[in-house]
Amino acid sequence: MLILNKVAGIFFKSSKRKVDGFLRSFNFHPGTPFLHKIVLGIETSCDDTAAAVVDDTGNVLGEAIHSQTEVHLKTGGIIPPVAQQLHKENIQRIVQEALYTSGISPSELSAIATTIKPGLALSLGVGLSFSLQLVDQLKKPFIPIHHMEAHALTIRLTNKVEFPFLVLLVSGGHCLLAVVRGVSDFLLLGKSLDIAPGDMLDKVARRLSLIKHPECSTMSGGKAIEYLAKQGNRFHFDINPPMQHAKNCNFSFSGLQHVVDKIIMQKEKEEGIEKGQILSSAADIAAAVQHTTACHIAKRTHRAILFCKQRGLLSQSNAVLVVSGGVASNLYIRRALEIVTNATQCTLLCPPPRLCTDNGIMIAWNGIERLRAGLGILHNIEGIRYEPKCPLGIDISKEVGEALIKVPRLKMKI
Ligand code: KG4
Ligand code: ZN
Repeated sequence: MLILNKVAGIFFKSSKRKVDGFLRSFNFHPGTPFLHKIVLGIETSCDDTAAAVVDDTGNVLGEAIHSQTEVHLKTGGIIPPVAQQLHKENIQRIVQEALYTSGISPSELSAIATTIKPGLALSLGVGLSFSLQLVDQLKKPFIPIHHMEAHALTIRLTNKVEFPFLVLLVSGGHCLLAVVRGVSDFLLLGKSLDIAPGDMLDKVARRLSLIKHPECSTMSGGKAIEYLAKQGNRFHFDINPPMQHAKNCNFSFSGLQHVVDKIIMQKEKEEGIEKGQILSSAADIAAAVQHTTACHIAKRTHRAILFCKQRGLLSQSNAVLVVSGGVASNLYIRRALEIVTNATQCTLLCPPPRLCTDNGIMIAWNGIERLRAGLGILHNIEGIRYEPKCPLGIDISKEVGEALIKVPRLKMKI
């Protein structure tokens, strides 16, 4: 680690000399005819340093990822300067590994695609400055990527999905419903008015001290809740889903978090234990919060499907709902969504779990999609900046609310 730290430090100080050295470690094949477009994707928007090399047929040629989850679990959440430092320490190794395993030389790349929005400023900055140095050295086009666009388009790498489709993105940093009409053509139907579901689950897991639980000490909060919920009984606690009377497609999770906080405090009193110890009812609480989260997400998504059907925004014969983002790897939530898609004659599609959480493949694939569509390919990188906040698409959430769509009650027998 000491050597890596040193390498990363020098890399950022005397970057040009180091990028030269980094590039010399690869075999260049000048003049080789390239049949396929090949993109290197780089992701550092939050707490994963990831890179991948993908071609235009969807072949993943190389991939590498360094997750910071364990470090952030110990500090009780992401501390941006810590995340930045870890990105700096790992980015060179991760990009190098993705390129090495791909077996292609940097000169064979058609472009470099990197997440530049939205995300943590300090984290985005590391990926962007590294990428710009590489772009400059290799004289390759640069494709700036919107992190949510990449999550939304991942499904087109694994399945044959035509535009338009409905997408639900649920992760630690985001929560939204949108109609995807094209590679960079989104209609935003609704989003979380406060925190994202993954953030809420992470906070509940922390409050339940699940890091001390022998079976889930290394899991992300959401994963730990899913794991523990299997051993619990959701009927032991009755928690109302949020926003039951708001007839729109927005979400809210901070109220739910406070309700669960209160339940935990009450239980600590009853069981006579201190904050920081594990409650005997932890699994029941996990099951109840997971169920309420699933019901809330399912109801908002159900309304979005009905709105799309009413306005003819999806295919008449094959309406597709795509679910992605870290929380989409939760099988209980997927089953709740399956109940909704069965009731509305939609097809539910989710990328495999490893492509639901942040990864470099989705960024490289977004680069391929943009290359094919001829969208946002930069040959001049002057003035390019990262954007910590950046909405996705055209916001029609007000219009959705004004439609006052009533959602029929579904039996959530999950
Ligand atoms: O997409 P992601 O890797 O990063 C962003 O937030 O963009 O998602 C990470 C989030 C974390 O909040 C984590 O707790 C949650 O996804 N998560 C889960 C599960 N696995 C990860 N939430 C619920 N159930 C899971 N199995
Ligand atoms: Zn993400």
